[in-house]
Amino acid sequence: MESRFVWMDGRLVPFEQATVHFLSPAIHYGLAVFEGVRAYPTPRGPGIFRAREHAERLLHSARIFGLRELGYGAADLALAMSQTVAANGYPACYIRPVIYMASGAWNLNLDTGRHAVGIAVWEWTQFLGEEAFARGVRANVSSFTRHHPNVMMTKAKISGNYANSVLAKTESVRLGFDEAIMLDPYGFVAECTGENLFLVKDGKIRTPDSATVLEGITRLPADRRGPHRSPDPGDPASLPRRGVRSGPALRGLDHGGDARLPARGVGRGERSRTSSGAPLRKLGIDRAKRRLDNRRP
Ligand SMILES: Cc1ncc(COP(=O)(O)O)c(C=O)c1O
Repeated sequence: MESRFVWMDGRLVPFEQATVHFLSPAIHYGLAVFEGVRAYPTPRGPGIFRAREHAERLLHSARIFGLRELGYGAADLALAMSQTVAANGYPACYIRPVIYMASGAWNLNLDTGRHAVGIAVWEWTQFLGEEAFARGVRANVSSFTRHHPNVMMTKAKISGNYANSVLAKTESVRLGFDEAIMLDPYGFVAECTGENLFLVKDGKIRTPDSATVLEGITRLPADRRGPHRSPDPGDPASLPRRGVRSGPALRGLDHGGDARLPARGVGRGERSRTSSGAPLRKLGIDRAKRRLDNRRP
């Protein structure tokens, strides 16, 4: 992927010059926190979806991770995102702010390192493929378990956490699925590799308990009207109890939209069963997406 300018610690630098040294501890140990944000086209140019909430979650992740003296507030980061979007001139784009360990910390102590901040944007449309909205995605229940909260800080979007996602996603794609559903260390449904999960039960949308998942900004009610206003935080969702097989949905900005993607099939290992995502459609997901499209931002 490519773009025109990258924001690096307060300066917009041309894409080719936005480099990080090989001896940056962020690369060696996954010492970074990041966000995935989107700007959508509007008649007044690209508009960033919930810029402030994303900037706050980035800072929150950094603090949970243990970084101190961040040097920027949420308003600074939201402004920097707007500047980067404007400098690049895309009508719509994906925005990736990162706070990363740039030097030091070789002794595995964050307090001996120096962190830096960068923001890149690029045109990234569909994370799970062009057909995901129309046909739904097929998800595999991964053999990899989501982190226990005392193993990794699951409430923070820490780069190193995503090695777990990469293992699960790669396994699922190699088995012929589009995405992985991850269970928590107790066997309850947690989330997907880069999206939260929503389940349909008794005509209502529920979302698994948030203990071990990254609390997505798209978990916030996108539309307060209608049956999909605010998903009920379920009690722990096990595969049979919550009827995962009857039509879960995936949600997260990375996959290219802030509407829910229907899952059309859930499998375990090499077995899979397909459905059409119909339960979600019945609950007005298509209508919700259309409304969201009209309101952006
Ligand atoms: C692990 C994980 N869970 C959930 C989400 C959904 O988050 P959001 O709704 O803020 O895009 C993401 C995406 O950032 C994610 O990476």
